[in-house]
Amino acid sequence: MPVRELLTQAYADQKPGTAGLRKKVTVFLQPHYLENFLQAIFDVETSLKASTLVIGGDGRYHNRVAIQTAIAMAAGNGIARVVVGQGGILSTPAASNLIRVHNAAGGLLFTASHNPAGPDGDFGIKFNIAGGGQAPEALTGRIYDASKAISRYRIYEGANVDLDRRGSQQLGDTLIEVVDSVDDYAQLQQSLFDFDLIRDWFKRGGRICFDAMHAVTGPYAQRILIEQLGAPAGSIINATPLEDFGGGHPDPNLIYAKHLLDLAMSADSPDLIAASDGDGDRNMILGRGLFISPGDSLAMLAAHLTKLPGYKSGLKGLARSMPTCRAVDVVAKALKVECFETPTGWKFFCNLLDADRLTLCGEESFGTSSSHTREKDGLWAVLAWLNVLATTGLSVQQIASAHWLRHGRHYYVRHDYDELPVATANTVVDSLRKALPSLIGSTHDDWTISQADEFSYTDPVDGSVATGQGLRIVFGDAARIILRLSGTGTEGATLRLYLERYETAADKLGWPTSEALTPLARIAGHLVRLNELTGREGPSVVT
Ligand code: G1P
Ligand code: ZN
Repeated sequence: MPVRELLTQAYADQKPGTAGLRKKVTVFLQPHYLENFLQAIFDVETSLKASTLVIGGDGRYHNRVAIQTAIAMAAGNGIARVVVGQGGILSTPAASNLIRVHNAAGGLLFTASHNPAGPDGDFGIKFNIAGGGQAPEALTGRIYDASKAISRYRIYEGANVDLDRRGSQQLGDTLIEVVDSVDDYAQLQQSLFDFDLIRDWFKRGGRICFDAMHAVTGPYAQRILIEQLGAPAGSIINATPLEDFGGGHPDPNLIYAKHLLDLAMSADSPDLIAASDGDGDRNMILGRGLFISPGDSLAMLAAHLTKLPGYKSGLKGLARSMPTCRAVDVVAKALKVECFETPTGWKFFCNLLDADRLTLCGEESFGTSSSHTREKDGLWAVLAWLNVLATTGLSVQQIASAHWLRHGRHYYVRHDYDELPVATANTVVDSLRKALPSLIGSTHDDWTISQADEFSYTDPVDGSVATGQGLRIVFGDAARIILRLSGTGTEGATLRLYLERYETAADKLGWPTSEALTPLARIAGHLVRLNELTGREGPSVVT
């Protein structure tokens, strides 16, 4: 009998964060470390057994090895059917879609998102549930508890599935189906957007530059943008996925994709410049001469979405994570649709999506998506922008200017303080938390603090409560300062400070963002005392 029970040692450090279990590759290389966590999933999520499990990853170093292990353990645990992306490749939104298409009971996604890859980089695993969404906190909590207690795991020994050959293979009682990584995803996008119109836009000379950052979206962009939409060859850069992401940091923002900002500012800028991250769920949007912040992108897409074929029937609701700027709230008010403010992390949107109360949602961290799937979806956002450009005949700049004139503009920036000693980070948070009540009513420059509290969230669908979701200092509609601890870092602690300022007067809409936010940054310096308490001279990353 090839199925064996092997002894494992329970690991106390397998607590999933905001986006699954994310650790250094070297941690995942410890004997039985991955097996331990996978067995915890199989033990807790017993519904997998009689059902289908989707498996894939972002192609980073260790992807294939981990996927072979996962398949062998799925067979060892008697899972009926495994659907795996060819070569072990599935972008996060494509995996979420496959879970839906195959009516699977769940999916194992091997990714550490935008974190650097390679032998010295990061690796990760996310468990998604039926319907395609990320496992809720209660479930990841139970998996974590199981991971600390188990003593054995089950594996089909000697399994070696051919990941590159499409079609069916049998492993014991388990059927393994290797599927094309792109087909179903491309079909989904075709059902949402007007491909003919976008094709015409390219024929009329419309130009895009899409940066796949040597990560998972290369093959997806090649198929959809070039082969299906007729974008000129050369429209995609860094299109070949590499195990170490070319040594880069596939996190599309103004730091790690500064070359795209430079391109947008150059005389030869294409009409649309965009990028996605390591696993294909994030997106960055720029037009000729300007960067569209993720909060603005969410608001602008919300304002135009019902012009696109998949959304003609109207918007159910809109949502943003708490630290994301309130631009989408303004649009929601104008359109008279409900707007939700959720904690950071995509899973909070999923309950609302499943309850049919949401059409579009997004986060400041370059994540946007809609009711078509249960993950954020990088290429979806790019296609949505392309469709808006093709439908309106306007440029990105014209869309942004008209939007700000009508709805006002939210200037926005995020300051990250990375790799802080955990105790230091906690001191910063604790001291601000203590000070919050005394801040209410105080005035700083022209702004008065109307509210200062710690964000907690009661899920409108299931009533579950998430506490400790970030400290916020609110100056009415005019501005906000937010501080929260990151849940995705792999070393030390990361603090994030978010600054938002709202202006409506026509002569205040064209400022450079950094200038617009200088006064607020100074106020945050006094109130939060990040530099003072951390001994740093400034943030590690500004996006
Ligand atoms: C970060 C982002 C958050 C996103 C998550 C997963 O989490 O801020 O919006 O959902 O990555 O991509 P954080 O490190 O802030 O907890
Ligand atoms: Zn990602």
